[in-house]
Amino acid sequence: MIPPARPDLGPEEVAAVTEVLNSGMIAQGRKVAELEERWAAFCGVKHAIAVSNGTVALMSIFAGLGLGPGDDVITVSHTFNATVSSILFTGATPVFVDIEADTYLMDAGRLEAAITPRTRAICPVSLFGIVADMDAIQAIADRHGLTVVEDACQAHGALYRGRRAGSFGYAAFSLYATKNMTTAEGGFVTTNDDRLADWIRLYRNQGMRERYHHEILGYNFRMTDLAAAIGLVQLDKLERSTALRQAIARRYDDAFADLPIQLPTWPEGRTHVFHQYTLGVGPARDEIVAEMKEAGVICGIYYPIPCHRQAYVMELGIEADLPNTDAAAASSMSLPMYPGLTEAEQSQVIDALRASVLRHAVGATGTRA
Ligand SMILES: Cc1ncc(COP(=O)(O)O)c(C=O)c1O
Repeated sequence: MIPPARPDLGPEEVAAVTEVLNSGMIAQGRKVAELEERWAAFCGVKHAIAVSNGTVALMSIFAGLGLGPGDDVITVSHTFNATVSSILFTGATPVFVDIEADTYLMDAGRLEAAITPRTRAICPVSLFGIVADMDAIQAIADRHGLTVVEDACQAHGALYRGRRAGSFGYAAFSLYATKNMTTAEGGFVTTNDDRLADWIRLYRNQGMRERYHHEILGYNFRMTDLAAAIGLVQLDKLERSTALRQAIARRYDDAFADLPIQLPTWPEGRTHVFHQYTLGVGPARDEIVAEMKEAGVICGIYYPIPCHRQAYVMELGIEADLPNTDAAAASSMSLPMYPGLTEAEQSQVIDALRASVLRHAVGATGTRA
């Protein structure tokens, strides 16, 4: 079976972890500090703060910005649960706007209508490896005195008009096993805000600058040096692994150009780092995914139930009318995409998808597409 994702780990990661193990200093230490410094430089920001996962990175930003009950954060529903749960963690309320049908990203054109006196922040998600329209979103935020927090958990290294994901003010990254760069579990906050960076460094460490002096209410959201050692190797590999993902995407694009499906698309001035290669395949999506599995290819569905339709969100009385989000949830699927996907495996994915889509195209129209 070809899995939807596979971490790109090799002897370098093994050696890096072994070195830390042998040093006896395995918790947060020098490796974490080095990774933070290098990630900040890579993104072009003053501060990168390593934490235990991307969810905690988002929670820490929203908490550090002082969000709480009575505050609204405008975000998207077509995202991973953590975007929403991290807003709710602070007591604030997520307000959902729809996505663009072609990019699956926040539709900045719908923001203004969603802003009320309760609105404090906007949280666009740089989904699947493309940065959201940060200039448009920031311009609206500036007009209304709002803070923009980028959920960059899926966009390591993606560029927007020459700027890296995570460099727009406040951003969270995930380093989960399937991400473009991993530490098994892990995350970063990136920011140029000295005050917030200092606060999050305390927050992740039980509120301590000095041992057993708890300046603020904090927790243990630290990353280990074992994880950071993996992260340093992964960062060395990031540009190469991004190029491999982009090459696979080009091969997929060429192979599917004649099919009646929606291929990944992104606006001028942005690069796509292909965390996911996501297709719009129409109403036969679930059958196509099932047929792909029979052909030995496991595809992903990101995300089959939008956040605003999750039981715990609906129980809070949060409602939204999001036709593009519902359409994406019903008709999109993602193909296996990772640097180690061999040419033979790529061919297997291509053959399986072509066969399945063409079978359904015949079923739908009576003629071949
Ligand atoms: C868009 C998005 N936001 C937040 C997260 C949360 O990151 P983590 O799984 O590291 O907590 C993820 C990762 O799964 C994600 O894809």
